[in-house]
Amino acid sequence: MNEEIKQQYYSGPDGNSPFRRLGGLLRENIKNLTPYSSARDEYQGEASVFLDANENAFGSPLNQQFNRYPDPLQDRLKKRISEIEDVPSANIFIGNGSDEAIDILFRSFCNPGVDNVIIVPPTYGMYQVSANINDVEARKVLLTEDYQLNLEGIAEAIDKNTKLIFICSPNNPTGNSINRADVETLLANFNGLVIVDEAYINFSYQKSWTQELSKFANLVVLQTLSKAWGLAGLRVGMAFASEEIIEVMNKVKPPYNVNEASQRLALEALTNIDQLNSWVRETLQQRDRLVLELNNFDFVLDIYPSEANFILVKTTDANKIYDYLLSKGIIIRNRSKVELCEGCLRITVGTPDENTTLLDELKKL
Ligand SMILES: Cc1ncc(COP(=O)(O)O)c(C=O)c1O
Repeated sequence: MNEEIKQQYYSGPDGNSPFRRLGGLLRENIKNLTPYSSARDEYQGEASVFLDANENAFGSPLNQQFNRYPDPLQDRLKKRISEIEDVPSANIFIGNGSDEAIDILFRSFCNPGVDNVIIVPPTYGMYQVSANINDVEARKVLLTEDYQLNLEGIAEAIDKNTKLIFICSPNNPTGNSINRADVETLLANFNGLVIVDEAYINFSYQKSWTQELSKFANLVVLQTLSKAWGLAGLRVGMAFASEEIIEVMNKVKPPYNVNEASQRLALEALTNIDQLNSWVRETLQQRDRLVLELNNFDFVLDIYPSEANFILVKTTDANKIYDYLLSKGIIIRNRSKVELCEGCLRITVGTPDENTTLLDELKKL
C-alpha cells in the first residue's frame, strides 16, 4: 500500500481519527433508499380496528395468537436489552440472529465487486460467507501465532475501498479475547467500521465494547441470545452502534425481521438473568474440568486458554479422534484444516453428563 493512502486511511496511533462521515461510507443506493413502509409503520396512535395489513382478523389456530404482524422495530425487546446492557434503545438493532446483522452491514456499506473488508482468520466463518454472498472481497490477515491482531498486516491490507474490519472477541474458534489496545488502535485510525463480535462475551471477564460507543463513531458491537442465553432456536441477535448506523440498518432490514414468537419468548427469557448467571458459572466449571481431564490424554498436545463456552484442543490426530467420536454419536468440530489450527478440534462445553460421556469414550480410544 502506498504511503499516501496509508496516511489517509490508517494514520497510526498518533493521528487524528480519519473516520469519514457515515455518508461517505454508505453505498449510494442505500443513502438514497426509500425503505418499505409497512402498514404498522404508517399508523401512529390509538386504534381498535386493524384493517390495514391484510391479516386474518379472526385469529390463529393455536392457543396463542400470531395473526398480527410483529413490531417491526421490536420496541419492548429493545427496552429490556437497553436495561441489561446499559445502552440506549436508539443504539440497538435487533436481527434474525447476529448473522443477519453481519449481512446487513455488508449490504449497507459494501459495493459488490468494488469494496473490500478485512477478516482476521482463524475466526468465525460467516464473515467470509457473507462477503462471498455479497460479492465483496474479504482480505485475510492471519492472526499472529498467539491469536492476536497483526496490526501491521491489517494496515498493509487496507485501501480506499476497505469498508469493514471484523474482529471476534472472544474469538471463535480460538477462544481467546483480542487485546483491547489493539482494537482501540484500529478504531482510532481506520476510517471504516470496526465490528467487534461479542457472541461469547457472557463467558468472559472482559469488559464489553458496548460502553465505548460514545467514544468511537465507527464501532459496531455484535451480541447474540444464541449462546449464554440459550435461545439459539429463536434467532435473536443484536448490533450496538451509533444512532446513525442503527438507522441505516433499520432501513435496510426486512420489515418484520424478528418474528412475534421470538420477540415474546426473548422478552420473557430476559427476565431470568439468574438462570443465565448460574448456567455461565456451571459452564466455566465444566470448562475447567474438561481442560484438566483432557490434559491427561497422550493425544492432547495443547489446550488453548478459553474465555468462551468451548475449547480448542491441539491433538496428534484430529481426524482420527473426530471420526471415532462421531462413530460413538458425539459430534465436535474438526478445525484441523483451518490455518493456524492444524491438528485442532473445537469442543463445546456440554452438561456434566455430556462431558462425562465425551471423556469416557475418549478413555476407550
Ligand atoms: C462469533 C459468532 N458470531 C455470531 C454467531 C451467530 O450468532 P447468531 O445465532 O446470533 O446468528 C456465532 C455462532 O456460532 C458466532 O460464533
